[in-house]
Amino acid sequence: MTQLLVVETSPRGDASISRNMTRRFVQAWRTAHPGGKVIERDLMETNLEFVTAPWLTAYFTPPDQQTPSMKESLLLSDALATELLNADELVIATPVYNYNVPAVLKAWVDHIVRKGMTLGFDGTGLVTTKKATVLIASGGVYTEGSPIQDRDIASQYLRLILNVIGIADVAVIAGGNAKVVDMGKQSMDEFVKDLEPEIQRVATEPPRNAS
Ligand SMILES: Cc1cc2nc3c(=O)[nH]c(=O)nc-3n(C[C@H](O)[C@H](O)[C@H](O)COP(=O)(O)O)c2cc1C
Repeated sequence: MTQLLVVETSPRGDASISRNMTRRFVQAWRTAHPGGKVIERDLMETNLEFVTAPWLTAYFTPPDQQTPSMKESLLLSDALATELLNADELVIATPVYNYNVPAVLKAWVDHIVRKGMTLGFDGTGLVTTKKATVLIASGGVYTEGSPIQDRDIASQYLRLILNVIGIADVAVIAGGNAKVVDMGKQSMDEFVKDLEPEIQRVATEPPRNAS
């Protein structure tokens, strides 16, 4: 059964543009993958710690030498990395905060990049998830031709880190100028509808490296 892992990061619930983009994506994905399973990892409901000294000690101790408390430090990280390894496809929906991803998403990255699990000791990516889609909502516009294109750190960062862990097929759908919704100049539905063709295309196309 094909499995889609959806990572949500916005704290804004129904008012979140990235979460509304996800809804459209998941609808289209379900139609294209009857019987497919969607696993939601909502980072607003996941008690994610930043990296701590005990976590690092556990991380750098070989599994067969880890104490029970070291193993406990890594439990959530183990679960998040396993969740990703089990997925056939991944969606990350995120706002842009201060030109980058929200801290909670960076914390998720720090938990899922695990030597020996998602990253080989030789630096080769071990994640076999075949395709990732990044759904980004931002107040500004950072796409080709924008005068602030060079500030598009968030999508470049996510593309890079996903490539590093082994996911070569990464599509980014940019919901730029999302402030029109917050300012009441456009409804949420109208805003997301403009992105619909791209969302529909990406959600339904098979991974580019599929054999
Ligand atoms: C703390 C904060 C920082 C933000 N920084 C940026 C930014 O640097 N660039 C930008 O284009 N939009 C920025 N925004 C706007 C958000 O990206 C925009 O409101 C987006 O719709 C939020 O995603 P969401 O609707 O899924 O919550 C910021 C918003 C907040 C609350």
